[in-house]
Amino acid sequence: MFNNKICVVTGAAQGIGRTVVERFASQSATMVYALDMNAEVLSKAFMGKDNVKPIVINICDREAILSLINQIKSDYGRVDVLVNNAGITRDALIDKMTEQDWDLVIDVNLKGVFNLTQAVAPLMIENNAGSIVTMSSVVGTDGNIGQTNYAATKGGVIAMTKSWAKEFARKGAQVRANCVAPGFIETPMTADLPEKVLDMMKGKTPLGRMGTPDDIANGVEFLASDKSSFITGQVLKIDGGLVL
Ligand SMILES: NC(=O)c1ccc[n+]([C@@H]2O[C@H](COP(=O)([O-])OP(=O)(O)OC[C@H]3O[C@@H](n4cnc5c(N)ncnc54)[C@H](O)[C@@H]3O)[C@@H](O)[C@H]2O)c1
Repeated sequence: MFNNKICVVTGAAQGIGRTVVERFASQSATMVYALDMNAEVLSKAFMGKDNVKPIVINICDREAILSLINQIKSDYGRVDVLVNNAGITRDALIDKMTEQDWDLVIDVNLKGVFNLTQAVAPLMIENNAGSIVTMSSVVGTDGNIGQTNYAATKGGVIAMTKSWAKEFARKGAQVRANCVAPGFIETPMTADLPEKVLDMMKGKTPLGRMGTPDDIANGVEFLASDKSSFITGQVLKIDGGLVL
């Protein structure tokens, strides 16, 4: 499904991002750029995969991002798919949340997404083709206790995505922007949550389980592919019915 496509995925070393990279690579993408700041985990993730290029990079480093996208432009002349997946949490109730934790989450989850999209979108518009999928969360639409900073960013990326859907298509370019909003998914991000919290979340989820990275990759694959060519500015919730 991704024949001849050049894909860029952030937060690619583990969890959802890693599964998305593997999905694109196994579906014949020409090249999947797998971006992550965790050099150690990234170095072990995609061994032997000729069409995956792991890149150690911090999405907050604007200069490095610009120079990488320029390099991809000179190598291939295009980026067809961008998946803004990298994201972090620094949870605390509002009275305990430090300014540092506020700033860090805003920087990675919002500014990082801005950095990548600003670098990639003009190239997509120039080529009159492209799909940007950004990872939100059900917390971005419905909020969550202890996640003021995270909720702000996950709601923020929905607003950014809707703006891009309008902005990128205004001169008729077939460049789309959508979000996926996962519920609770089994990844390293949720691995440290207490058993009690995990059981509570499963109990609240009508389908009675946590999601898997494959559940999320299914939605990302659809929105990134030409099968969703008339869909833009949307938020696809993949949460087992958690938020209805
Ligand atoms: N796991 C869940 O339950 C869940 C639910 C809703 C939304 N999400 C969102 O899905 C996305 C992926 O989540 P996950 O659970 O796979 O997370 P994860 O923590 O398992 O993986 C995230 C990856 O992003 C990388 N990363 C973090 N900051 C970075 C930066 N500044 N530059 C480059 N790479 C960076 C990390 O090194 C890590 O490899 C995130 O945006 C997250 O907010 C996850």
